[in-house]
Amino acid sequence: MANADELIRDTVRRIVPYSPGKSSAEVMAELGIEQVTKLASNENPIGPSPHVIEAMARSAAQAHIYPDPQCTALTSALAALLDVDPGTIVVGRGSDEVIHMLGLAFVEPADNLVFASPPFALYPHTARLMGAEERAIEHRDFRHDLDAMADAIDERTKLVFISNPYNPTGTIVSADEVAAFMERVPETCIVVFDEAYVEYVDADDYPDTLEYVRAGWRCAVLRTFSKAYALAGLRIGYGVAPVDITNALKQVREPFNVSSIAQDAAVAALRDVEHMRRCVDVNRQGREFLSTQFEQMGLQFVPTQANFVFVDVGMDSVECFDELMRRGVTVRTGEIFGLPSFIRVTIGTREQNETFITALREVLGGRTVSPGLG
Ligand SMILES: Cc1ncc(COP(=O)(O)O)c(C=O)c1O
Repeated sequence: MANADELIRDTVRRIVPYSPGKSSAEVMAELGIEQVTKLASNENPIGPSPHVIEAMARSAAQAHIYPDPQCTALTSALAALLDVDPGTIVVGRGSDEVIHMLGLAFVEPADNLVFASPPFALYPHTARLMGAEERAIEHRDFRHDLDAMADAIDERTKLVFISNPYNPTGTIVSADEVAAFMERVPETCIVVFDEAYVEYVDADDYPDTLEYVRAGWRCAVLRTFSKAYALAGLRIGYGVAPVDITNALKQVREPFNVSSIAQDAAVAALRDVEHMRRCVDVNRQGREFLSTQFEQMGLQFVPTQANFVFVDVGMDSVECFDELMRRGVTVRTGEIFGLPSFIRVTIGTREQNETFITALREVLGGRTVSPGLG
């Protein structure tokens, strides 16, 4: 029997499948433990609002009906919230799907995509899917190096991604930095502000990128319900961009890409502002707790504006990961980001954070920590 390998598009061969790490169920089965503290995927530890759960139950009863392809109710709720025209919004199965739509609609094989290194996985994935060149620009001090990124742009650059806050480090680029960058970007490319963690940001100099959309710049702002709204399992996010861009995205979108349960849940989540704020508050407290603990332990970490912290554990991160897992805690290793002595830990509830710190203290106990932050 012939092997399908030879039929695969060349560009698809370059794609390394996303590795989510071990699921909590796998870890529990392997170690014979009853609970895992999963701090590996920047999920919201609080869970969805009770009103959202009610909305999902109501929606479930209508699951035999195809969803609204225009996501009308959600789009108008978002337009009112963000003060933008409904036509500038496109809803996707997570912001992941909107990233793919940008690739499908705009990227030719001769084009290139510019993003920071280490990147959020979907940026190189989109480049590879479309057969385009990846221009990964090394971070500087754990931040986007916007000057170097602007230098890397040429007439074949189609998309430039700015993850703000930056996954995996949690840093931001400021309003002034973005303004200076935008002046340097030619009209031949689209700047994508990936703001998956925007609700957690409390820095005063964070840019209002929707202003660029309102003013008709070649840009897109991506947001999600996966983080502060706690709906990662439903897969729903959106992009906001001038209508010539969103019209192109709607041409490549699947007709029924977002389920009705996800649409109804997102509308309900937007209504329960209090729940979202509570989640952000818990995150802020967790951020302070972890920062204090890392300082006491003599660990260098990157001050974060998101729901995760990038910390130098001064040892091989894969070894650290294994040791933490043995104690029922999962995190992300820095080695996948090219920074092998770092781990990225999601900020959890107070109890989860304490469990993590206790486990980390045990793992590092007796070790001399060698600070690696420059
Ligand atoms: C920077 C960044 N962008 C986008 C996403 C994707 O989010 P979604 O769940 O909306 O696809 C994530 C998820 O972790 C992320 O970290």
